[in-house]
Amino acid sequence: MCGIVGAYLSGEPCLAALVEGLRTLEYRGYDSVGVGVVLDGRLVVRRKAGRIEELERELSDGALAAATIGIGHSRWATHGAVTDANAHPHLDWKGRVALVHNGILENYLELRAELERRGIPLRSQTDTECLAHWIGIELEGTDGDLAEAVRRALRRVHGYYAIAALAGGARPQLVVSREGPPLCVGHSAAGAWLASDPLALVPHTREVVFLEDGDVAELAPGKLVVTRRDGTPLARRPVHVDWKAEAADRGGFEHFMLKEIHEQPDVVARALFGRVEADDVRFEGELFGDAALRGVERVVISACGTALHAGLVARYLIEGLARVPVDVDFASEFRYRQPVLSPGTLALGISQSGETADTLAALRLARSLGCRQAALCNAVGSTMVRESEAAILLQAGPEIGVASTKAFLAMLVASVLFAVRLGRARGTLALAEARTLLGELGRMRMNLERLLAREVVEGIRALAERHKDQRGFLFLGRGINYPIALEGALKLKEISYLHAEGYPAGEMKHGPIAMIDRQMTTFVIAARDSVASKVRSNIEQIRARGGPVVCVGDDEESLAVADERIVVPGLSPWLSPIANVVPLQLFAYHVALARGCDIDKPRNLAKSVTVE
Ligand code: G6P
Repeated sequence: MCGIVGAYLSGEPCLAALVEGLRTLEYRGYDSVGVGVVLDGRLVVRRKAGRIEELERELSDGALAAATIGIGHSRWATHGAVTDANAHPHLDWKGRVALVHNGILENYLELRAELERRGIPLRSQTDTECLAHWIGIELEGTDGDLAEAVRRALRRVHGYYAIAALAGGARPQLVVSREGPPLCVGHSAAGAWLASDPLALVPHTREVVFLEDGDVAELAPGKLVVTRRDGTPLARRPVHVDWKAEAADRGGFEHFMLKEIHEQPDVVARALFGRVEADDVRFEGELFGDAALRGVERVVISACGTALHAGLVARYLIEGLARVPVDVDFASEFRYRQPVLSPGTLALGISQSGETADTLAALRLARSLGCRQAALCNAVGSTMVRESEAAILLQAGPEIGVASTKAFLAMLVASVLFAVRLGRARGTLALAEARTLLGELGRMRMNLERLLAREVVEGIRALAERHKDQRGFLFLGRGINYPIALEGALKLKEISYLHAEGYPAGEMKHGPIAMIDRQMTTFVIAARDSVASKVRSNIEQIRARGGPVVCVGDDEESLAVADERIVVPGLSPWLSPIANVVPLQLFAYHVALARGCDIDKPRNLAKSVTVE
């Protein structure tokens, strides 16, 4: 949801760092891109509607090549259409301040009206431009001190933002602030850098300062001065970030999504590393110890998108293995529906980015109502990890493809581990069963490697080719594999724009069956579990009505009655979602590829949704 970057280098040109940073953050939004730099004391802005390649063409004249300080932005439109004029950076009306912004200024109409009354000409439909002018106005009363001007302007603003403001002149200044969306900074004698995501900082520094809400920071090579909005000085310590910079390239795969699908065997191994004992699981933190877990009376899970589907799988695991009641809710619903929570409730947030606005708000609400809270999260220094009492880090590495794959898989693995820990702490999970499950989880890497073997992938590619022109798709699953049906449908919708619906298999006859015909392909997920025979009957019912059926799973009888099949290695039903989702990810990928869709940058979506 918009990416911002900035670089202030001591002597070196900064343009390459800005463009490289924008490329890394492009997953956050890709409607328009722009940079603003200081050249001979003056601010110069280049911005374009379109992808980063458009901007590179704009910059190819070399006119900005000498600049050593600049900011950049990759946009996911919220206010104003996708046009050059609405692209960031925005300048104040006298060209003294350039501003990039991720978020929404809720009182921007009020700010806009006031600017119009003052006769300040507005050149775009964005909320951001209003803030650029306000900073310009405040600059007049602060003797050119940009940090103070930003602090004063922000006191007038309501909303969510991560911003970077740049002022020219003989002594250029770079100032950042956040309230809501993420922002991190790093510095050394060679320079200072800022970005929405640490991934864009690791090529320059691994010592990253994650700014907190309300922080205003001035950056220069070797200098970081952080204050609150009221000017009170603050100390912020850097965190060492381990992610490899090369994790952000495609490593020989045609798309990030495909690379990330193929990383999944390693992702399982990383999620297990250092946590699994013979018959129990170990997590850092008092909240995951026996005493605290025995006090948990109920778990409420909040998440969005793919992470919500992981939460639905977690419900089956936690209820089944630990016998604790679980509610799962869309975070955007939970936060507004006056949930009834008691102090014995553990609020669990699940998120790849740890920055999804609704999920953060849901956890904050739970905290305000006296619940303990934990996060299952991939992004190490994210707001969710910092705000939660305890976190299980997914350790999937940076996920760049907008359609989540490996982070989902890591969420499933972490959910199994959490359910086992809870079950062991509460004595509901027998030692032998824990040992069997953990042993099988240890072999999961090998099973996923078999699923990702060339001939299996080639079979799925051919299947996608045969079905790519269907009118629609239905995905059916039951029990713990019902959420996998939802996820299979979501993946296909997100990247191929085909209509797909996920449904509990037992509900099929209450509606979706009316849609069955030859143009509607049904995927049935069939695990060898207690409902296998019922799922098998669903396959027969669809086939009797002329609908093509693809069966995915390890239930041999179901596989035998379907028209086409993808055989998944036999597993404990508790673990079957981890393997069953992989062929569905590959199917979505190959349908999108065959239809010529932009797989890593699907239209209208953003990877990290930091606004409501
Ligand atoms: C967006 C992304 C989805 C993701 C969801 C939740 O909608 O496009 O892929 O599942 O946000 O994101 P989170 O970072 O909280 O897991």
